[in-house]
Amino acid sequence: MSREQWGSRTGFVLAAIGSAIGLGNIWRFPYQAYENGGGAFLVPYLIAMLTAGIPFMILEFTVGHKYRRSAPKIYSMINRNFEWLGWFQTLVAAVIGIYYIAVIGWSLSYLNFSFTQSWGTDTNAFFFSKYLGVGATSSPSNLGSIQWQVVIPVAIAWAITFATVLTGVKKGLERINKILMPLLFLIVLALVIRVLTLPGALSGIDWLFTPDFSKLSDPKVWAGAYGQIFFSLSIGLTIMLTYSSYLPKKSDINNSAFITVFANCGFSLLAGVMIFGALGFMAHHEGKALSDVVTSGVGLAFVTLPSVINQMPAPYIMGPLLFLTLVFAGISSHISLTEAVVSAIKEKFGWSRRRSVIAYCGVGFVLSMLFVTQGGILLLDLVDHFINNIALLGGALIELVLLGWGLRIATLRDHTNQISDFKLGYWWELCIRYFTLLILGALFLSNFIDELRVNYGGYSNQDILWIGWGMVIVMLVASIAINTRTNSIAQKEATA
Ligand code: ALA
Repeated sequence: MSREQWGSRTGFVLAAIGSAIGLGNIWRFPYQAYENGGGAFLVPYLIAMLTAGIPFMILEFTVGHKYRRSAPKIYSMINRNFEWLGWFQTLVAAVIGIYYIAVIGWSLSYLNFSFTQSWGTDTNAFFFSKYLGVGATSSPSNLGSIQWQVVIPVAIAWAITFATVLTGVKKGLERINKILMPLLFLIVLALVIRVLTLPGALSGIDWLFTPDFSKLSDPKVWAGAYGQIFFSLSIGLTIMLTYSSYLPKKSDINNSAFITVFANCGFSLLAGVMIFGALGFMAHHEGKALSDVVTSGVGLAFVTLPSVINQMPAPYIMGPLLFLTLVFAGISSHISLTEAVVSAIKEKFGWSRRRSVIAYCGVGFVLSMLFVTQGGILLLDLVDHFINNIALLGGALIELVLLGWGLRIATLRDHTNQISDFKLGYWWELCIRYFTLLILGALFLSNFIDELRVNYGGYSNQDILWIGWGMVIVMLVASIAINTRTNSIAQKEATA
């Protein structure tokens, strides 16, 4: 059967941008930048973009295009003992997709609430107690009951992903991204322009961009910047390998990779300006310091933004537009996380797209119910932390070793240079084989040691061990088991 293909280069690039731009850009980037020294964060962030983001994106596009398979198959074609890595990274994408959809569900609910600002004035109590139902005894291992008001939007979000991925690469993925991405950029631009005209907005933006260079000597700031680049660009998640495997033979790789990275990072800066401009306005309005109105993480989007919207002129327009950006960005990324898993299943079992999508989305939907419980947000926080800091970075590190050292890197460079307008120099090989590898190795090691030293987020030893480490170990064992089985079947066939 011939492989599905993108209908146009624009379609592919928009889908790659759609995958990259996600919740990570709109709420994660601004608070990461804020917590890690404001303007000083931009220095490691841009260095991470140049030294890891761009080389890695080109690498994944090139390998996906050259091998034209899903990640587990590509890795096993390179070395049959590395199929497990493809499954491990596919599982990372699956786990992210399964909790990510909960945040899209919250965004959909908030889109609905924003028309009348039905979250009221105490947005913190509304979000945590009323909407999510977090109780005093809730913990990642004491999830309590399912919150039906959250199940409904999550089911709607799954339905959109399901219908899109079921429809296929060209008619589903390409079409939806061609609609969502231009709309997303237009809405964000309009919001940025509006926010900039609000009193106090500029002081918020100033705060975000004022550098605190003392933070540059802190390894955590660098870890934050590199972590943000990987999550945000959707690299190391098998997505970009899968997306580029649908490219026609003659396709520009290098330019497409640069466009995807710049569009994503540019969008993050725009989102930062939008969010911090709005926070500056709120601080001005309430006569407080900015640091007193900022909440980090999940709270920024679902606690602070609703308060800002309450105080804005025409909140019934600004609110829906703001939450629509979260929904659009989230859905297009969720579709890519799902496609990566579906394509691996389809290829491994020889199933049709339909069967693979039904099987995966069915299981995914059921598992995502874990995150719509009273303790769901705590579980989400813990799982997200371990997935990003350990599993995603660890997988990306081994991927870099396999692709950079298991293949002739010069051949890959020739492959991409032959079909791209703009040619890569030797710098790319140096980055992949040495520079990026070293940085990623150091980063992973530092995260690993940190994890062993202190319990993340003050969670109990039991939760850290059974949920955090337990999940990573189960994913690893399952991936290795699949690899072992494939090898033993191949061996039997060879001797028969
Ligand atoms: N790249 C996606 C995001 O930033 C996963 O949210």
